[in-house]
Amino acid sequence: MLKIFRNILPLSALMPAAVFFVSCTTSVKPYNEGVNVIPAPASLEISEGFYRLGNGTEIVASGDAAEVAGFYAAKMKASTGYDIRVTAGPSSGKGAIRLICAEPGKLPSEGYVLEVTPDGVTAEAADRNGFFYAMASLMQLFPAEIESRELVRGVKWTAPCVRIADYPRFGYRGLHLDPSRHFMSIEDVRKHIDLMAMFKLNVMHFHLTDDQGWRMEIKRYPELTAEGSVRIEGDGSVHKGYYTQEELRSLVEYASERGIVIIPEIEVPGHALAAISAYPELSCFNTDITPRIIWGVEDIVMCAGKEEVFEFVENVVKEVADVFPSEYIHIGGDECPKAEWEKCPLCQARIDREGLRYGNDGHTPEQRLQSYFIKRVESIVAGYGRRIIGWDEILEGGLPASATVMSWRGLFGGIAAASQGHDVIMTPSSEGLYLNFYQGDPKAEPLTIGGYFPLETLYAYDPVPDTLVSLGKDSHILGVQGNTWSEYMYDEDLREYMIYPAALAVAEIGWSRPSDKDFADFCRRLDNACVRLDAHGINYHIPLPEQPYGSCDKVAFTDTAEVVFTTTRPVKMVYTIDGTMPGPGSEVYDAPIILTEDTEIRICSVLPSGRTSPVRTVKVVREDCAPAARTSTDGLSKGLEMRVTHGTFLSRNDLVRGKRTWERRVAESLGALVSVVPSDNQMRDFPQYAAIASGYVMIPEDGIYYLASNLNDVSIDGEMVIDNDGEPKKYSRHDTSLALAKGLHRIEATFLGHIIGGWPSNWDSGNIMIRKSTDSTFSAITPDMLWH
Ligand code: ACM
Ligand code: ZN
Repeated sequence: MLKIFRNILPLSALMPAAVFFVSCTTSVKPYNEGVNVIPAPASLEISEGFYRLGNGTEIVASGDAAEVAGFYAAKMKASTGYDIRVTAGPSSGKGAIRLICAEPGKLPSEGYVLEVTPDGVTAEAADRNGFFYAMASLMQLFPAEIESRELVRGVKWTAPCVRIADYPRFGYRGLHLDPSRHFMSIEDVRKHIDLMAMFKLNVMHFHLTDDQGWRMEIKRYPELTAEGSVRIEGDGSVHKGYYTQEELRSLVEYASERGIVIIPEIEVPGHALAAISAYPELSCFNTDITPRIIWGVEDIVMCAGKEEVFEFVENVVKEVADVFPSEYIHIGGDECPKAEWEKCPLCQARIDREGLRYGNDGHTPEQRLQSYFIKRVESIVAGYGRRIIGWDEILEGGLPASATVMSWRGLFGGIAAASQGHDVIMTPSSEGLYLNFYQGDPKAEPLTIGGYFPLETLYAYDPVPDTLVSLGKDSHILGVQGNTWSEYMYDEDLREYMIYPAALAVAEIGWSRPSDKDFADFCRRLDNACVRLDAHGINYHIPLPEQPYGSCDKVAFTDTAEVVFTTTRPVKMVYTIDGTMPGPGSEVYDAPIILTEDTEIRICSVLPSGRTSPVRTVKVVREDCAPAARTSTDGLSKGLEMRVTHGTFLSRNDLVRGKRTWERRVAESLGALVSVVPSDNQMRDFPQYAAIASGYVMIPEDGIYYLASNLNDVSIDGEMVIDNDGEPKKYSRHDTSLALAKGLHRIEATFLGHIIGGWPSNWDSGNIMIRKSTDSTFSAITPDMLWH
């Protein structure tokens, strides 16, 4: 019989559901209460009363403002169904929305003053973006459903009376999109631009080329897209795609209508394998190769000794500059290994000719060669009337004064660059500005590149380092950007999941002054913003119910289980224990769930809109401690028996196909499973194999143990307890828990050599991690615990 005790009975359990829901239908939806503008405005005064949008409401505007008015009139019309008219004025009466040009010098760039009264709305601004943002704020004053692209009935289209005087903290507020690792359609790019515009982000940094893919049509070099846009994955599947120049031109226009500049990035001299796959002569040794299919830093780069490489760059920049009118072109410059340049006679000849010798600053000749490369590219870009931005490595060995530095490895690049008088954009991975990191428990979340930055940590970031304030160099910080490297963003759902709502936090970091930031209030406004994201069909991240010390879908217990859930920001959790799916009306989780019988907990988070997170199913299983197979090591030897067979194995099913030859040896540690052939960074022509280790593991005392591993699978006492088959072997996501008696338990662990989802299985320690339920951290199963 199932028995549940709760410390506190939730209030909702005592309220008849009908009362709860009836009240909802007649009142303002909770997420529409209050003022919900993101990013937080510089000044907000709220007064009594409401403005009401109606059929025939006029927007009075001229010039640039009329274009902005037309844009918002169409949006309002779609959701309200009202005929919203744009007129050059004067307005025929009450209730109009008037866009007024500010006196020169009265308002800062992109700033606006928005006054909402019962009689009408005025929006004053000095430039097009100012009008655009005034109207974006007005949209956020109306119920969130105004963002719907379809007619919504039963909503009162009112906005509270306010006076907002607002302007951005930084002129550069960026979001970086990476279609290079995983392609995104032009429609999907437009969708991100729509969202950027809603939250006043004004630069889209478009990472169009990398080792894994070249995504921009270059007419002079057709092979760049014919060859360089095709990624043949480790499982043989093909991923490809590119943008024509016509598509990109229309994208530039689309973004510009929304106040957004697109800065294209063409990566040189490193991260250029896709280009080299199309034109091998761009590399030092004319390497015949295909685009990279794994994460990491590629050591085949563009040759800095060949003049033809600079001709190539010139010809590409010419077409890029023709398509993208932005002031800046991003030229990459990061993570360029120098191993090829050290061996290349042409690179070495260039070093000699240009006198690129060791200096007092510790830079090597090859680092100076990188600086030479960047300076040449800078002058090519300058020839088209543009300026370069590069990742912070471009500082190495000296940099042209006009170059702007994007600080990504931490704060130091930005501090060094600004100290030298360069403009800087802050996008430090060390502070969570990489939106491809974990926002929640890696054991419960989809695979990411790594890192751990829940929304609150990201939100707290301030782009101006104190050091620069004390040096008086802080004015060189142009702004901030969130980067979204897409190696594990296999599809658009995953991309959206990683980017939102984190991008809204970046928007507030970039726009609002630190004194106007307040995480609790941001979360409140986010509840409203999420409904707007729903209107755009976005699969945004909702904090998952997580378990302390690592989420696990199986919780073993011997007497009583106390199952605890938390979330990374305050959101309601609801659950069921009767096998049904939880929904907004399910039992609210507000205290540990105490269980004495086998139970399946289905739990999810729920936002005030009723939107739920994915459901986690946690099996809570009563177990007696599994008896040890042996209690003594007498007659046993140290280590495990290991069988090895050669080939590439995507799944353990591949192991049973055909006749296999097995080599037998002893594995002294679990690490031996992954080091039969020492793995390298490039994994090219790498002989793959499978290895199975078996024997006994010594469990030190009776108890509940949690196990984690990135091996293909792990069995204990003849039962497979961890199964990662077919998945990327990174960040154990199929942990288990078991009740085990003290003594020797049979263990078998399988390693399969392959690349799945961009990750080589060899890039792992081979460890099985273990944690007693009473401990908070895992440790590796050590060689002295293994016997055969
Ligand atoms: C970078 O993440 N390599 C800029
Ligand atoms: Zn070379």
